Formats: sequence, structure tokens, C-alpha cells
Amino acid sequence: MKKILAMLLVAMLALSCVAALAEGELVGVSMPTKDLQRWNQDGAYMEEKLKEAGYEVELQFASNDVPTQLNVVVIAAIEGSSLGTALDKAAEKGVKVIAYDRLLMDNGNVDYYATFDNYKVGTVQGTYIKDQLDLDNAEGPFVMEITAGDPGDNNARYFYQGAMDVLKPFIDDGKIVVTSGQTEFDQVATPTWKTDVAQKRAEDILTANYANGEQIDAWLCSNDSTALGVTNALEANYGGENWPIITGQDCDIANTKNMIAGKQSMSVFKDTRTLAAQVVKMVGQILSGEEVDVNDEETYDNNVKVVPSFLCDPVFADANNYKEILIDSGYYTEDDLK
Ligand code: BGC
Repeated sequence: MKKILAMLLVAMLALSCVAALAEGELVGVSMPTKDLQRWNQDGAYMEEKLKEAGYEVELQFASNDVPTQLNVVVIAAIEGSSLGTALDKAAEKGVKVIAYDRLLMDNGNVDYYATFDNYKVGTVQGTYIKDQLDLDNAEGPFVMEITAGDPGDNNARYFYQGAMDVLKPFIDDGKIVVTSGQTEFDQVATPTWKTDVAQKRAEDILTANYANGEQIDAWLCSNDSTALGVTNALEANYGGENWPIITGQDCDIANTKNMIAGKQSMSVFKDTRTLAAQVVKMVGQILSGEEVDVNDEETYDNNVKVVPSFLCDPVFADANNYKEILIDSGYYTEDDLK
């Protein structure tokens, strides 16, 4: 039997997993859900890269439903602060924890955090709308609505804040009008990040405010699953003259197809291969007792400590550059996008 060296817990941690890993040289990887494309991909890359590096891998997915998971003694990190006991147990066993993509909150036993620059994702989205509408020069007013992410996901506020730091001044001076009046994070959030939840809220907004063909110039969406919901709602209920600018994040296949078809304007590409490679590197450094590669030791306070982080760089994507960044890089094939 090989000696246990470490276990990497990613976003979700199961008590049962901790017990099962009492022996063996294993890295545990736990992804929040199979429901959204990106976590399947992240899980697959992590498994592949860790195996290539010589580790045994325990890959787990949990459902999106926090209480059910707690009932079956799986502690859910899909809601970032639900992990307390599992993290404490992990720490007792000397297990090191890396939070992957989403920060684990309210617990001191989080050793490292690897993610993309979440605030920058938001600024890329906000800046895109600003540039497309030429907000610095055009008179306006322009009409915009906002759809943000899951309040239980620490990332969601960073995306929202990054975009709003660019756009809020224009809302304040009246150049952007949010007809629904919903601009605060809690008003625009999408619990669970799910497409149908975002779609329902968008339908309600359209019915209440845009039933007579009123124009919408932009719909800020924090990611692709929510952008898809908004796009679906608009397709069925929007009668305005021009199709709005719609932002997104992840370059999911459905959304990339929508970009090519002109239904979604842009997305932010977060190459999960880059993040997986970085995490594999950090695992190796932890296991060999080397200094762990981090590039941000200020931003990510989980309410107990500032977690040393490595932030990867998000990349702008639209219908003009998708071939280069998604296909030429081997992330998708042409066929994937047909
Ligand atoms: C991730 C996004 C993703 C969202 C929904 C966030 O934590 O950073 O890339 O779109 O979760 O899965």
C-alpha cells in the first residue's frame, strides 16, 4: 500500500470520500454538478491530467441540491459555506485542500485556491457593452437588463461587481436605463445558475416591461447558462427592433453556436485545461513540500482567512475569434459546433 500523501478536494467534499481515502496515493476531485457543461469538462481534464502525473484519482460529482447531499452525508460546496465539518475532518487527517474555481467559505482549513480572475470576467463583459454601445460618446439613453449568478457561489458577486463597476456610472447618469428597476445583486441573481431559472425571470421582466415591442439594447448575463435562459425568453417574447447585446461566460457549446448564429454577442473563455494544469502543478508542489505557486494573496477572503490563490486569465470570445481560440486550440472540433 502506498502512503497517503494528500487529497485534493475540489468544490465538493464528501465525508465518505475522506474515509475511503485513508490509504493509497490518491487525489480526490469533487465537482459540483453534472448539470452544467463546464463541470463535466473540468472533471474530465482534472482526472486526465492528474492520472498523467501519476496519481490515482477519485472523481465525484454531486447534485445541485444541498439538503439532499447533507442527508446522505455528502457535504456540499456548491453552496460555498456548507463544507465546514468536512473541511475540519480533512484538516484533522492532514489533508490539504485546494478550492477549485469557487472559493470555499467560512472555514480556515482551505489551503489554496485556484481559479480564473473572476472580477476580470465581469469587467470584460461590462467593457464589451460599454464599447458596443459607445457609452462614452453616444447620447443614449440605452435600455439594459441584468442577470447575475448564484448567491451561494462566491464567484457570482465578483462577476457582477466587475461588470457593474464599468456600467454603474452610466446607470447613475441616466445613459443606461434598467426599465425593470432591478439592478442590485440580490434582485438580479439566479439561484443555482440554471437556465430555466434565468429564463423564467427574463420572461417575467419581458411581460411586465417590454410587452409592446420596446427595444432592449443590452442584457448583461454573468455566464452562459443564464445567457441561454435569457436568449430563450427573448426568442419567445421579444418584439423590439434590434436584437440586444447579450454577454456570457464559459463558451459552452450551445452558447458558442448562438454566438455563431448572432443570438449571443460574446462569451468569456476560461480554458479548463489551463486551470487543470495549474492545479496539477499545485498538487505536485504540495506533495513534495515545495513552495506552492500562487499569484494573489490579497483578494480572496473567505471570512476566516485570505486564501492564497492562483488566478488564471480569462479570454474574450465572440463570433470573430472563436475559431482561433476554441477550434485551433483543440478545445472543440468544428463538428462540436454544428
Ligand atoms: C463558474 C462559472 C460557471 C458558473 C456556473 C461559476 O462558479 O466560475 O464558470 O458558469 O459557476 O456553473
